[in-house]
Amino acid sequence: MKLSTSALVLAAASQAATVPFDHAQRLLRPRQDAGNGIIDIPSPVNHTGQPDKCTGYKVDELQPLDTGFDGTLLLLGECNAYGPDYERLKIQVRYETHDRLRVRITDAEGKAHVVPDDVAQWPSIDDHTITADESNLAIDIVREPFGFKVHRKADGEVLFNTEGHPLIFEEQYVRVRSALAEGSNIQGLAQHSDNFTLPIHEDGYTRTLWTRDAYGIPGRTNLYGSHPFYVNQKVGEHASASGTFLLSSQGMDVKFPNNGSEIEYNTLGGIVDLFFFNGPTPADVARQGSQVWGVSEPVPYWSLGFHSCRYGYLDIAHVAEVVANYTAAGIPLEVQWMDIDYMKDRWIQTLDPDRFALEKVRYVIDQLHASNQHMIVMVDPSTFSGTPNVSADSYETLQTGKEQGIFMAYPDGSLYEGVVWPGPTAFPDWTHERAQAWWDAEFARFFNPETGVDVSGIWLDMNEPANFLPYLEANIYRVSVEREMPPRRPLPRLIPRSIPGFAAFTAGQNISAPFGSSNSSDETAAANATRRSLHKRQTQSPPPSVVDDYLSPELDSQWLYPPYRIQDRRAPPSKAGDQEGLKNISDFSARTDIVQANGARTYDEHNLYGSRHAIVTHNALVKRRPGKRAFTIARSSFSGTPSSIWMGDNLSTWEQYIQTIRQMFQFAAVAGVGVVGADSCGFGGNTTETLCARWAWLGAFNTFYRNHNELSSISQEFYLWNLTTIAARAAGHVRLQLLDYTYSFLQQHAEDGTPAIWPLSWVHPQDRHTIGLEAQFYYGPHLLVSPVVDENSTSVAIYLPATRYYDFFTLASVEGNGTTVTLSDVGYDTMPLHIKGGAVLPLRYGKAMTTAENRQLPFRLVVAPDASGGAHGYLRLDDGESTDMGDNVSDINLDFDGCTLRITGTFGYGECNTLDSIVFAGQEARKRVFVDGKACHDVVYDKHAKTITVHLARKLDCEMTVKLK
Ligand SMILES: *[C@@H]1O[C@H](CO)[C@@H](O)[C@H](O)[C@H]1NC(C)=O
Ligand SMILES: *[C@@H]1O[C@H](CO)[C@@H](O)[C@H](O)[C@H]1NC(C)=O
Ligand SMILES: *[C@@H]1O[C@H](CO)[C@@H](O)[C@H](O)[C@H]1NC(C)=O
Ligand SMILES: *[C@@H]1O[C@H](CO)[C@@H](O)[C@H](O)[C@H]1NC(C)=O
Repeated sequence: MKLSTSALVLAAASQAATVPFDHAQRLLRPRQDAGNGIIDIPSPVNHTGQPDKCTGYKVDELQPLDTGFDGTLLLLGECNAYGPDYERLKIQVRYETHDRLRVRITDAEGKAHVVPDDVAQWPSIDDHTITADESNLAIDIVREPFGFKVHRKADGEVLFNTEGHPLIFEEQYVRVRSALAEGSNIQGLAQHSDNFTLPIHEDGYTRTLWTRDAYGIPGRTNLYGSHPFYVNQKVGEHASASGTFLLSSQGMDVKFPNNGSEIEYNTLGGIVDLFFFNGPTPADVARQGSQVWGVSEPVPYWSLGFHSCRYGYLDIAHVAEVVANYTAAGIPLEVQWMDIDYMKDRWIQTLDPDRFALEKVRYVIDQLHASNQHMIVMVDPSTFSGTPNVSADSYETLQTGKEQGIFMAYPDGSLYEGVVWPGPTAFPDWTHERAQAWWDAEFARFFNPETGVDVSGIWLDMNEPANFLPYLEANIYRVSVEREMPPRRPLPRLIPRSIPGFAAFTAGQNISAPFGSSNSSDETAAANATRRSLHKRQTQSPPPSVVDDYLSPELDSQWLYPPYRIQDRRAPPSKAGDQEGLKNISDFSARTDIVQANGARTYDEHNLYGSRHAIVTHNALVKRRPGKRAFTIARSSFSGTPSSIWMGDNLSTWEQYIQTIRQMFQFAAVAGVGVVGADSCGFGGNTTETLCARWAWLGAFNTFYRNHNELSSISQEFYLWNLTTIAARAAGHVRLQLLDYTYSFLQQHAEDGTPAIWPLSWVHPQDRHTIGLEAQFYYGPHLLVSPVVDENSTSVAIYLPATRYYDFFTLASVEGNGTTVTLSDVGYDTMPLHIKGGAVLPLRYGKAMTTAENRQLPFRLVVAPDASGGAHGYLRLDDGESTDMGDNVSDINLDFDGCTLRITGTFGYGECNTLDSIVFAGQEARKRVFVDGKACHDVVYDKHAKTITVHLARKLDCEMTVKLK
């Protein structure tokens, strides 16, 4: 989260006194910027800036192996486009699997940065090999200038061809350019809010990968995550797909020169480590990619319920009231969240003692647990580090971290500081060998289930890492004051009304008075004390030496101002006028010349920060609750992150509502992050009743479903308006009905990278028309979701590919024929949902308010045959939360051949598995039904809906057949 308003309160510096700090700093000349806060500081590195003059390398030696090649390359002529060239390179080519070929080029001395495998277990170069003959891909090498071409043996399709495009391999710049075959559709290269099929034909279109705090998720810019992986899909008669993953954590611009006929990687350094995937379907490419970064643990079942959150809760009673109001409205609520509001002055791992006292927070969490609900809170990495006025000497999180040296520091050991929510902050260096132990201890203490804040999951924000410093030399104390970090808070409230379900909160009670203290003068005293301390803080303006900008003596401008400038977008808004334009890569983040504990600079590993934050948090959560799956939702990510993702600070607009679909494709189809979602109703700006009602439905078909918004926006809990209440109730129940279907396809995703969310073009690649469709999607393999797209509209034009569908609600069959169909009278209590023919959907039958209740409901199987009469489905049953399930799982296949439904598989999970009934859709006539060969009489035929419903009331604990005759 980030401020959307630029309330700048620059306190005038009036005093003459100077205060000593423990910073190594000296005064700078006054800054001269162009009025926009951006200073274009030239790189100190000699360079020509003319990459097109470079002549590349030639093959010096090339040694064929059974499994590929090893060789060396020599620089043909000094190039110096963006700094010194590496003269001698090493190339390794390996056929790694039948469908994966790897080309790895490093400098001969091994100086260039390589992505370490603490982020994911990247395959080592000879971990997996097959012979050239066994591979479905082939490679040709051109000797001078060096180039290579990768093609698919089966159809000759060229995946990548660098011929004629000299390789540039320099200390701070690497360029690889390839032709793109005619008809290429490039999808992926997350994270962005552009069309899923990238607009590569647009003049100058560039995908920049450099993780950043990106309020409002603007198009054509770099956003929070970095996933240097794309799928190249071809549609139509000869439909196919291939993929390319560049294993690099460098900042980079991926460009599409010559009207999108080429792809060009421009990185800030590192090596070239390219993995080519054969496909030949897009889903195959996704699965093949996930083998490189590794699959992640499935999420717990409860995490798929509905999540409620907002930034700006006044106190813990306010939080309780939201829960109570959801309950009263009959809207299923699984998890209530708390943003940074709960912290004392935004210091991580603390509670605001007046508004979020521990005993009250524990009370609310106990009440949630008693009704099978959960709490999740935010934990940022940035740790308050003290100001001249506010000491952090007794702040345990900072002090223990400092003692162990786990924060980013200058070479002389002094702390590197930026500005985040609490004001000045230190940034944990997750590569430090003691960082995990420090974080584990912090979690064991603060999130102690017996004595602390007993959360069920953790929300990771600001982990790009984000920093409010607009430029490197800006004074942290001045910026903290300007941006009101931490903000002033209103005095503790008197609880306005009693809260059903939270009897300990009563009307008129002062929230800052301990439970049980009824003495109202105590309460006023507490309020008075808070008022005094607030008053003290507000009237102190910073002394002059904390106003001037300064430059650290360790400034290493080679790594701060690289000669090649990626198109990193400035983080808006910090002050008027600087929203646009390029920025220096350290602005609004941790500075890039810092050397981490693992010896690498943040210059090289900036993009890994969020993933590492997720990894230590995941590990700490597992240690805190051994045997239980950890649930984390993060903003920043890199390929292989163990975290689920929310899409960051979006806006309450119709445009961004529909854009959530293409962002889900990037993550849950391409990048291997199955659980992903946008803030329903939008985070920034004010939502409207109709937008929020439609978004209640669309959000229910994000694999992660949360309503969240920011401090300065109007409240938008679903219960606040009539239409949103109607929508969220209905959508919430449909989501719960489908929850085991969701859990099952996410299990599949976690096992092998099969997409969780499917673009229409991935399901119907022969139909060229599907390539531009980004306002509809498949939720899991079988369910077509077609949201209403316009304000105040109750109709929507949807495209139905030529296949059979069934209306989800009525089970009436709908024949798609590759045309657009207009649906009208789409009320707010519903959404166009179609089951694609060929599906057996396991639904929970009945109504529940939580996932725990939902698991107790019996199943109803819906058999929706395709035109040839067949259907297939999959159901995973387990306890939904253990890390090691052992044999205590059921993996159930549901296969219908037009006549017999066969239920087969393993049936190790003995609970929550009652089968109430089976509904066969698309049945033209009444039929007799035999269950395991015996005639069944509890059968109803509905001639209008054309369904046969068979009532069974038995367990899904062994194989069975149901035959229609
Ligand atoms: C940059 O190049 C110029 C001209 O070739 C040379 O005089 C200068 O020493 C070089 N500077 C550095 C820092 O290498
Ligand atoms: C909860 O509902 C009550 C009664 O309608 C209302 O007065 C209150 O503002 C609501 N609270 C919140 C936090 O939405
Ligand atoms: C709180 O402050 C007000 C004036 O600021 C004073 O009149 C009152 O007596 C104080 N109450 C207590 C309990 O200290
Ligand atoms: C981008 O996606 C939107 C729908 O999300 C669609 O209206 C638009 O046509 C798409 N643009 C292209 C070039 O495909």
